Amino acid sequence: MSKNNAFQRATDAPALPTRTIKFILYCLANFHGWIVLIALLETGQAAGSILVPYAIKAIMDGVTQGATVSMLERLQGPLLLLAGLNVAEIIFSRASGALLIIMGPRLRQRTSKALYAYLQYHSPRYFGSHFAGALAHRISETAMSVNHTVWSVLFDFWPILITFAVSIALLLNVHQGLGLAVAGWVFAYVSLSYWLATRCQPYAQSYAATRSQVNGKMVDSVTNILNAKLFARLKFERDYLDGFLETEVQAARRTFWYMERVRWFQFIAAALLKVGTVYYALMLWDSGLIGVGDFTMSVGLALLVISDARNLTRRFLEFFEYVGNIANGLDTIVQPHEIVDVAGALPLQITQGRIEFRNICFGYDPQRPVFDNLNVVIEPGQRVGLVGFSGSGKSTFVGLMLRNFEPQSGQILIDGMDIQQVLQDSLHEQVSLIPQDPSLFHRSLKENIAYGRVDVDDAAIQKAAKMAHADDFIDAMPEGYASLVGERGVKLSGGQRQRIAIARVMLKDAPILILDEATSSLDSVTEKTIQENLDRAMGCKTVIAIAHRLSTIAHLDRILVFDQGRIVEDGGHEQLLAQQGFYHRLWTMQAGGFLPEEAS
Ligand SMILES: Nc1ncnc2c1ncn2[C@@H]1O[C@H](COP(=O)(O)OP(=O)(O)OP(=O)(O)O)[C@@H](O)[C@H]1O
Ligand SMILES: [Mg+2]
Repeated sequence: MSKNNAFQRATDAPALPTRTIKFILYCLANFHGWIVLIALLETGQAAGSILVPYAIKAIMDGVTQGATVSMLERLQGPLLLLAGLNVAEIIFSRASGALLIIMGPRLRQRTSKALYAYLQYHSPRYFGSHFAGALAHRISETAMSVNHTVWSVLFDFWPILITFAVSIALLLNVHQGLGLAVAGWVFAYVSLSYWLATRCQPYAQSYAATRSQVNGKMVDSVTNILNAKLFARLKFERDYLDGFLETEVQAARRTFWYMERVRWFQFIAAALLKVGTVYYALMLWDSGLIGVGDFTMSVGLALLVISDARNLTRRFLEFFEYVGNIANGLDTIVQPHEIVDVAGALPLQITQGRIEFRNICFGYDPQRPVFDNLNVVIEPGQRVGLVGFSGSGKSTFVGLMLRNFEPQSGQILIDGMDIQQVLQDSLHEQVSLIPQDPSLFHRSLKENIAYGRVDVDDAAIQKAAKMAHADDFIDAMPEGYASLVGERGVKLSGGQRQRIAIARVMLKDAPILILDEATSSLDSVTEKTIQENLDRAMGCKTVIAIAHRLSTIAHLDRILVFDQGRIVEDGGHEQLLAQQGFYHRLWTMQAGGFLPEEAS
């Protein structure tokens, strides 16, 4: 096991970097050409718009020059330049817009795809401690932020840089003092904007955190709206949410007040530059150091610089937010995978179906072990029932067999192969589970039943449904096998959902079958019929069946009685009854019905 490695990643998962910048570069890997092209077009566009004041200067110079030739002739060049610049600006900016349309969605797709592919290989423990909705949201948020970060650089910062550089160059050409003064202003303005953005970031972050907290509360409340109704607490929920909405108002105001202060700074700085440039250029013109054309150009450039510099703080702030979103997304999703295939893992080959737990120690929390040195062998083709009180470790036992969790020590062997050393896919292809609380895809019944097998025809699907006694209710549905089942299967009754899960597993037909309370939601009549079909489907498979209703497992070859993670009794039904122990007590108390809730 590579457990001690710093970062463990499933071999089939994409090698995503954990650092934000590296991750962005990873996402951009296929798009280098596009980026360069967009940057070039943006350069052209920015240069085009910044040269407009230059063309106007040329026109002004032409207008004020002595009239040796006709005005139109004098102005032909500058006018053509002005028209050309405008056309160039339009073409360049729309061309980069078109590239954005082609590349943007692809980039987002690539990011989402990579994150989802990485997420798939996380362990059940990971999914147990993260909300599905929150993870899906994280993926889309991260993908969107990658796009926004790249756009910020390409469409905001880069053109601004060009504008500043070209204007300063033009002004330096007019008069060095004027150029240096504007350069000084730009430097001070950018540094201050950046500094203000860093100062504002904590406010913006706490505002974002409040928003997402309020959103979480809202989702929880909407999810439980039926509960609220049943307990006549609708008004209570409104008031409860209102408290959180109020905190959002406060956080929003704090951020916006800060932004308002920043705007004061921007307006004052802009006014200074405007007035300063006009004054300085006037002085220069007055002393005959520059012409009237240079004067107009300088003022025009100052105005352009101001319009580009406006909102720079907000742009920095947004940029920080996008980068922060990406960092959060990576922090949640790009964690080491807990359970991975070892290097050189072989496919599991089940020929007999012998299962052995050897010295297994396991606890979800290692401090509180569920199993302490558990040893048990299940022979090929044996049909074993697991019984015991709620929480005694039955589901954990089968969870370990499916490698949902890694034992802290010990081995689980199937046909002599350690399941930690085989490919997980091969394990899951050959061990079927009907879980305690089956969940279905919000897809058609047909797709749900056929899930374990890629190439099956309708006849096979219907046969499996019949075996699981699901055919009657499916046929009665308006859309039959094409009916959708709702999120996780909520549009079906518990028993119907369970029967679809049984049909799905019957179709999969794997050599080892695990039933965790597979028929617990069914009425006794349906259960009895399905039980017979299940028994037939078991054939010579190795079967592990967990049941609270002892009558459903009494006929199996062997019964293991669990108590607080230990197997306290082991044997056939008659044999255990004869022992007059734990099982006997359960059996007599239950009298063929259910287990009592607690030991008495
Ligand atoms: N995902 C989990 N994280 C932490 N502890 C868990 C988790 N699942 C189960 N446990 C704990 O492990 C112990 C064994 O639980 P397990 O689900 O195996 O019981 P069980 O015998 O299947 O019970 P039931 O008959 O109610 O299904 C319990 O104390 C339970 O609280
Ligand atoms: Mg259980």
